[in-house]
This record gives sequence, structure tokens and C-alpha cells, in this order.
Amino acid sequence: MKDLLDILVLGDGGREAAIVWKLRQSRRVSRIHCAPRPYFGATHAVGLDPFDFAEVANYVAVNGIDLVIPGNENIIAAGIADFLEPLGVKVIAPSRQCAALESSKEYAKEFMSRHAIPTARFMTVTTDWLDEGMNFLDSLKPPYVLKADGLAHGKGVILCHSLADAKDTLSDMLEGLFGEASSTVIIEEFIAGRECSVFLAVDGEDYIFLPTARDYKQLRDNNDAPNTAGMGAVSPVPYAGQEFLEKVEKRIVIPTLRGLKEEGLDYRGFLFLGVMELEGEPLLIEYNVRLGDPEAEVVLPRMKSDFVDLLEGIADRTLAVKRIVESDLACAAVVACAEGYPGPARTGDEITGLASIKDDCLIFPGAMKRDDEGRYITSGGRVITLASLAADIPEALTRVYECVDRISFQGKYVRADIGSGINNI
Ligand code: AMP
Ligand code: GLY
Repeated sequence: MKDLLDILVLGDGGREAAIVWKLRQSRRVSRIHCAPRPYFGATHAVGLDPFDFAEVANYVAVNGIDLVIPGNENIIAAGIADFLEPLGVKVIAPSRQCAALESSKEYAKEFMSRHAIPTARFMTVTTDWLDEGMNFLDSLKPPYVLKADGLAHGKGVILCHSLADAKDTLSDMLEGLFGEASSTVIIEEFIAGRECSVFLAVDGEDYIFLPTARDYKQLRDNNDAPNTAGMGAVSPVPYAGQEFLEKVEKRIVIPTLRGLKEEGLDYRGFLFLGVMELEGEPLLIEYNVRLGDPEAEVVLPRMKSDFVDLLEGIADRTLAVKRIVESDLACAAVVACAEGYPGPARTGDEITGLASIKDDCLIFPGAMKRDDEGRYITSGGRVITLASLAADIPEALTRVYECVDRISFQGKYVRADIGSGINNI
């Protein structure tokens, strides 16, 4: 690959903002392009729809783009790598078929079963199998975990505390609570463990671990429902030390990559394992085929090494000779959401206080935009993520919450207990 690259980032959340922020620090970047909107002075691919792959291919050709990074699962599951790679474009994402590891929870669970990867007991249910599903629920102890098979913006998992509620929810999901995504539902045994997001860069042959992160998916304090796509994160994860990660590697990573190969699948891109730690042992909860949001906002700041070198390793299958240097600092991120999230969120409110933050925190804009008068306005659920690097997690949390307090908008909602109680590092 060339020394200096032109890179196109696709997607418009806090994660993509973190990707652009990290790219800007690379000595190997010529220009950064972004669609559907700009971040941190990146060149804006005006009007480019990330889902219109022919248009993306045209933009790539006209602008001499060397590398495309799709941030979110929907673009990847729609097959962007399958479309662009035959045209000679390098894409940091797996194929559509590999993306089924995330876009179908049924496929993922069956893949785990085929390759003896430790996971929660489960049953797949469609309307034709409703009775069997109800019987399976009868056989489990509360709480009950119900998951939409398809992509649902991280919101398709419901935790029910009573059997009656679980049965009603199962019926509701099959009847279209999450549209087509829940026409198949996975009922899963509840694992009372501690969550950890494990990220890998994968080039089809070799892999490298990125820093670990703990995401807080539930909307309310004390991990109370409903599920969101993530309300905050910290890195590293104190209970996921070297010994634990060696178990993750042996029981999950190696069988997963071997299984993909055996099934004739060439996986290149980021692979994100949603792992539960239960009494020191790892269980795989889910696969994602991309970086997490808000995990990317704590993982990327903790990588001291050059990001483009890593991306090159994925694209050119040279990860065997790449290294990641992890910072000794800890990072904490908190998401400020709009009222209504994870349901339909209130939009159009002015955001104030951003200027007062300056360099006190990293600012990763999400669902916000600028109006004609230059004001910042909310435009969706996860409005903005702030992140702070500090000597340890408590210090990073103090700093990030102090900055979050300086931001105001009507209906602003923030979880108050991100990272609390997590052991210090
Ligand atoms: P998923 O989309 O599969 O990662 O699920 C979203 C969230 O639901 C996870 O991050 C956990 O907080 C929770 N969850 C999912 N599956 C289970 C399980 N089997 N036991 C306990 N919690 C779970
Ligand atoms: N924060 C979890 C995800 O990105 O799916």
C-alpha cells in the first residue's frame, strides 16, 4: 500500500467520529473523507448515501480513495465489501455472508454450536414453533432473555423478569414488535456474568486483539431495562486480564476463525465478541462484525500505535507483522441521549455548552447537526459521546462526567453510573 492514503469513512455516529479522530493522528493519512457528514474537518462526501454502493464506488474512483471503512453493521450486512472489492477497492469489513454472524442471531448461535464455542443455552422460535418456545421458557429460570433474530439497532434484546411477561413478549415479538427482525426469536438462558467487549482485527489468517471495553447497554442506572445500543463504556476491563483473554482466545477466537475457514468464509475486518465473564470463564453472547459504539470511543483513544498501519494489515493480510501498542491510561465515555431514546427520540433542540469543553474531554458527535445559524441541534437518540483519558478509570469518570454536566439540551438524559463499581486498574 502507498505511504499516504485517502480514506473514506461511512456512517454517522460517535463511533465514526472516533474513527476519524484516530485517523487524523496517523502519519499515513493524506485526506479523510466522510459520508454522510463530516467530522473534525474531514472532507465531506456531500450527498453520498453510504447504502448506494454504485454511488460510493463512483466517489471512490473520482477521489482516488485507497481504503473504505464502513462503521456500522447495516452497511456491512447490506454487502458493501462484496460490491466494492471486485472493483479493486479495499474495504475494512467482512462480506455479507460473514456479516450474518451479526445480522442473524440464529445463524450466529448455530455457528457457535457447530464449532463448540461456549454460549448460553438457547432455542430458536418462529410462529410455527410457538408451543415449543413456551415449553422452553417453562424449563428456564427467570430472568428470561428474548432476542430478535435480525438487526434492530442494538435494541432487539428484551429481558423479562416473570414467566408471564416472557410469554407475552415472545408472542409480541413474533407478531412484529421489531418488524421482520423479530419474525424469528432466540430464547436464551440468562447468564449472570460480567460483560466484556473483545475486539479483534482479522485479516483472514492472523488476528490482533485491540484493547477491551465494558459497554453499558441498559438505559437506566443499575443496568435496568430497556436495552439501548450503549450508554457509556470504559477501557480496559479490569476483570478481563491476560489469563481471561487467553481463555477467550483458546475457546472463542481460535474456534471461530477455524470454523469460518472450514466453512469457506474469508473474514477480514473487525470482529467484536460480546463476552460474559462468569466465575473467570468466558461465554460468547454475540458476534458483531465492526467496532462497537460507544466502545470505539474508549478503545481507539487507548491505542497508541498508528491506526492506518493496522488497517493496512487487515486489507493486505499482513497483520502477522503488525503490533498494537496499548496505552497505560484508562478511558471512560458517556453518551448524552435525547428524551425518548431508545424509542423515537425528541429532536430539534439546541445543544449548548460544547465550546466550554475545549480540550478537557474528547468530543465525539453523534445524532446532532448544525443549523443555518451555526447552532448545534439534536437530530436523533444518541446525541453526543464525551470521553476522557486519565491515569485510572475513576479519574477518567470524574473528568468525563464533569464535562457532560457542561452540555445542555432540552430532554438530555445521561446514565449516572457508567463504570461505577468496576474494579480499579
Ligand atoms: P446482544 O445484542 O446479544 O449483545 O444482547 C444485548 C445485551 O443483552 C447484552 O449486552 C447483555 O447485556 C444482555 N444479554 C444478552 N444475552 C444475555 C444472556 N444470555 N444473559 C444475560 N444477559 C444477556
Ligand atoms: N455497544 C454495542 C454495539 O455497538 O453493538
